[in-house]
Amino acid sequence: MPTNLAKRLDAVVPSATLAMTAKAAELRAAGRKVYAFGVGEPDFQTPEHIRAAAERAMGKSSHYTAVQGTVSLREAICLATERDRGWRPTPDMVTVSVGAKHALFNLAMVLCDPGDEVVIPAPYWVSYPEQVRLFDGVPKIVETSAAQGFRMTPEALDRAIGPRTKAVILCTPSNPSGAAYDQNELLALAEVLKQRDVWVVLDEIYGDLTYDGFQHVSLAKLAPELRERMVVVDGVSKTYAMTGWRIGWAISPPAVAKAMLKVQGQSTTNPAAIAQAAAEAALIGPRDPIAAMARAFAERRRRMVEGLNQIPGIRCDWPRGAFYAFPDVTGLYGIKWGDRRLESADDVTLWQLDVCGIAAVAGEPFGAPGHVRYSYAAAESEIDEALSVLGAAVASAQR
Ligand SMILES: Cc1ncc(COP(=O)(O)O)c(C=O)c1O
Repeated sequence: MPTNLAKRLDAVVPSATLAMTAKAAELRAAGRKVYAFGVGEPDFQTPEHIRAAAERAMGKSSHYTAVQGTVSLREAICLATERDRGWRPTPDMVTVSVGAKHALFNLAMVLCDPGDEVVIPAPYWVSYPEQVRLFDGVPKIVETSAAQGFRMTPEALDRAIGPRTKAVILCTPSNPSGAAYDQNELLALAEVLKQRDVWVVLDEIYGDLTYDGFQHVSLAKLAPELRERMVVVDGVSKTYAMTGWRIGWAISPPAVAKAMLKVQGQSTTNPAAIAQAAAEAALIGPRDPIAAMARAFAERRRRMVEGLNQIPGIRCDWPRGAFYAFPDVTGLYGIKWGDRRLESADDVTLWQLDVCGIAAVAGEPFGAPGHVRYSYAAAESEIDEALSVLGAAVASAQR
């Protein structure tokens, strides 16, 4: 039996967020109480009108659709982009994929030749660098700091772009930090991008989840002159509590959409027809259930951030968007755990899973050592209870 697998996988690490989810599921199966703050998905049920649309579609549709998605879904995406992001693409710019992760994967395949650099500000979503590596591209990581609100400055962006740079990925609001760029910050980044011949990939999957009056503004709206080399990635997973339906999309110049079509036509073909019908209903349907979920996230954010800040050794800034708290946990280093002491964020997450049953993801795989990502897409009672368990564990820990 041959055992030699493709070498391209050697440089790629598995998803840390999915690994923590699996570990938490194992503990739960063994009968432990587990507080699930590891996974980046809303705990809400997909709103009723969306599920009803899927049921109707099931009665009608059992065939392939167009590879790039149905015309009616792509039209709905264009309308929703105008409503929510302030600019109107055309359906020939839209490629619907099996989640935004798949859209980004296709895009990495379409953009990266071996050795091409892709600028990625840290902390970053775990999949960006790995997808680039899968196609022999080179992630060029730009460090940011908590003091800067984890936002990349125009100067740092300018310094990072070199002769081999093919693309820049910007995620706002960000997973894992919740950092988000305001209008002026985006305009300043746009000034740099306009001078440089690079693709701009804009991940706006958390664009509808912002807090305390902060408004997400799309760079595509602010800098229309960049649209000819911009790809906007978005999807229904987060805003509409539809992670399992697997619908995301890319909005790009038609030439890129054609290239993505070529890739998808030789791999997945279309995303599931039923899920496409559900996504269409999500985008054009009533907004009340969506607003109610966003309000719930705001309250959970308050509880999570306030609760974390009450624990000595943890310091958490207020995230502008998404549903993650991303505190500095270096103050917990030195806590005794068996015969060793905590000395990394990775240690902190393993310790708190073991001692408190709290599943969260260490900052290292996001490019931000010293931090832990707590998803607050969980019930308020779970957040309160978990933080009091964690507070008690820290208070009684030996140093
Ligand atoms: C920043 C970011 N982009 C894209 C995705 C992919 O979402 P999906 O594939 O569920 O559409 C995620 C999911 O965690 C994310 O956090």
